[in-house]
Amino acid sequence: MQEKFNDIKNRLKEELSSVASVRLLSDIKVKYVGKSGEVTSLLRGMKDIAPEMRSSFGKMVNDLKEEVSALIAVKEAELKEKELLEKYEKERVDITLPGKSEKAGNIHPLNIVKNQILDAFCGMGFEIFEGPEIDTDYYCFQALNIPKDHPARDMQDTFYFTDNILLRPHTSPGQVRTMESKQPPIKILSPGRVYRADDDASHSPMFHQIEGLVVDKGVSLCDLKGLLDEFVRIMFDSDTKTRFRPSFFPFTEPSVEVDVTCCKCHGKGCSLCKGTGWIEILGAGIVNKNVLEMSGIDSNVYSGLAFGLGIERITMIKYGISDIRTLFENNVKFLKQFNRR
Ligand code: DAH
Repeated sequence: MQEKFNDIKNRLKEELSSVASVRLLSDIKVKYVGKSGEVTSLLRGMKDIAPEMRSSFGKMVNDLKEEVSALIAVKEAELKEKELLEKYEKERVDITLPGKSEKAGNIHPLNIVKNQILDAFCGMGFEIFEGPEIDTDYYCFQALNIPKDHPARDMQDTFYFTDNILLRPHTSPGQVRTMESKQPPIKILSPGRVYRADDDASHSPMFHQIEGLVVDKGVSLCDLKGLLDEFVRIMFDSDTKTRFRPSFFPFTEPSVEVDVTCCKCHGKGCSLCKGTGWIEILGAGIVNKNVLEMSGIDSNVYSGLAFGLGIERITMIKYGISDIRTLFENNVKFLKQFNRR
């Protein structure tokens, strides 16, 4: 019997010495100590053993089973360790390699500047109101104190669909629509696309404006100046100065144009500012009483200030862009230069 036991052990050891994986080892385990494995089957021979020998035989088989299981367990631990190391090696990551960065899109420069402008004014309590791009003659002109056939219409080369329906040439109709729907205090911005029959390095047939309107009791030119000075302080370098020049718009009286010191030469005079040291950034003024009255606001009680600026113009000044068309060509190389700031 001892011989048989030794034979089993020797064969097992031999098999263990050449087994190469945990999976193959489990076959060996089944072969020896599984339900019908060689060692387990020895117990089935118990009936042929003399009764007085049975207990010592049982003990011997159990000892053998323990020994065999221990040998298998040692091998199993060894193989598992080896397989784990192989797995680590195979899945090794070189963390010193440069990463693959995803290509992220950019916010368009016009949207960067638009968001900065909206943020600047919303921080001062303005709300946003968007009007329609196709509008009527009344909202675009008449309600803004520009009657039919008035020469002031020449200021905007308008695209007409019919005598009455047109592509809005400015965002100023946003003033009228707001005043019609809301009583003061009013403090709104009206951003959006506008259209004019104009096409050269500094004009595009489609461009973007933001109209601002404040209507309340006692609104004055001082409020307009304070508001726009603060806006310029937020949008441009801290040493930028503002200048208010008298101007004319039919919807404001008095009217002004606002200039800032040239951001390229800081006021000394260069090609960007055509030697003047100043660059015009927007038109503004105190809302004409006729405009307030036409929209149902009592001009004896309330007064208003308004301003209108072109987003392309501010973007071109801020980034030193000389041709407006580059903003609409969608040349990725050009657009990539602008980050989110
Ligand atoms: N609507 C004018 C334009 O398109 C801009 C403007 C000027 C708006 C003065 C205003 C303003 O509200 O007061 O050129």
